[in-house]
Amino acid sequence: MTIHIGAKPGEIAETVLMPGDPLRAKWAAETFLEDAKCVNQVRGMLGFTGTWRGHRVTIHGSGMGMPSLSIYANELIRDYGAQTLIRIGSCGAMQQHVRLRNLILAMTASSVSTPSTGIFRELNFAPCADWGLLRAAVTAAEARGIAPHVGGIYSADVFYDERPDLNEMMTRHGILGVEMEAAELYNLAARHNIRALAVLTVSDHLLTHEALPAGDRERSFGEMVEIALAAAFP
Ligand code: HPA
Repeated sequence: MTIHIGAKPGEIAETVLMPGDPLRAKWAAETFLEDAKCVNQVRGMLGFTGTWRGHRVTIHGSGMGMPSLSIYANELIRDYGAQTLIRIGSCGAMQQHVRLRNLILAMTASSVSTPSTGIFRELNFAPCADWGLLRAAVTAAEARGIAPHVGGIYSADVFYDERPDLNEMMTRHGILGVEMEAAELYNLAARHNIRALAVLTVSDHLLTHEALPAGDRERSFGEMVEIALAAAFP
């Protein structure tokens, strides 16, 4: 047990899918895993371990934002030996050619401030995805008839952003979308020499101001779980 995760030693798999929402972790575990068992309930941040096509998998909530994800990812890696962490979540599109429901695979994740800023200081470290996972996710998406956008995203610290100029700058530099967790996930993966990837669907659009209805979010979430699992176990 750690401060924030109640799982016993050995109850967390080496491969962990991390949706932001713990209830999505529950839904995904019940929908896609066999013999799923709840291994964490501390603070309602649910985690489940089961198997997918014979492979052990944990699906564990990350909460919203980098500080929250950082707590769970650190403990999953350092205390439970997680080797592959795949974030599955939503993002806001920052390019006209990226549409609602589109799939984004985050090759890199820029940020203005993460829990790692105090560590890197003047260094502009470039947090990036694991290439093997990224390539396998592209293959898994294409096998389902989905053409993913692959490129840079922006991990923001605030959802209600008071810096439209910064978002414009991101758009001008080709950033595909904005979410709030991937940069820290990629930093931690680099620090601990493990694999990480963020698989995202576009739930809202910063340029057109469209947003997905709730039912569509569920459907695209299921698709992301399948792609993440297929990428982890190609
Ligand atoms: N901003 C930040 N995070 C998000 C957004 C957004 O527009 N959409 C989904 N996650």
